[in-house]
Amino acid sequence: MSEILLQIDGRKVKVAKEMTILEAAQSAGIVIPTLCHHEKLEPYGACRICTVETEVRGRKNLVVACLYPVQPDLVVRTRSEKIDKIRKMILELMLAHAPDAADLQELAKEYGADKARFEKESSFCILCGLCVRYCAEVKKKNAIAFVDSGARREISFIPEIASKECWNCKECFPLCPTEALQAAFVLTEALISPP
Ligand code: SF4
Ligand code: FES
Repeated sequence: MSEILLQIDGRKVKVAKEMTILEAAQSAGIVIPTLCHHEKLEPYGACRICTVETEVRGRKNLVVACLYPVQPDLVVRTRSEKIDKIRKMILELMLAHAPDAADLQELAKEYGADKARFEKESSFCILCGLCVRYCAEVKKKNAIAFVDSGARREISFIPEIASKECWNCKECFPLCPTEALQAAFVLTEALISPP
């Protein structure tokens, strides 16, 4: 396995050349927040909370760490005024969906995000896709999917599949950063259970 050297937050880090910035940071014990990342799933890049600054030969960029591949002599900054501002805004938009979600509240404290900045959205889902992708990629069941588009995009259990597959699984529940998935399932359960 060939390795490359890069710099993260001023530290020289040697990692496998196939890694993303997120994996490189994690291998060095440097924490980058994530909300749509899961090590068993293909990178997705939906939440943008893992945004970091990169610099290559003097050229600076903002990239999502869970997608961006490492390269030799890459300089990465995981915290800066600009990055913190971006993360704060992302969190405030997400908190409008799920103001009481523990994962979001913890990050809100770290980045000074105000959960009341935006009006409450009707859906609790932040569209991280963890539930949908886990069911498709790991469980290979596709019992849950995105429905609708734009502002109405939401997740939904597919009753015909969920009624057979979900009872003994429910592995997606703890993945949900807004804790809303469980409520969605309970609702579906009520719809598909015999009276
Ligand atoms: S229900 Fe939860 S896990 Fe599924 S996409 Fe929405 S926020 Fe993510
Ligand atoms: S964790 Fe990178 S975009 Fe969500």
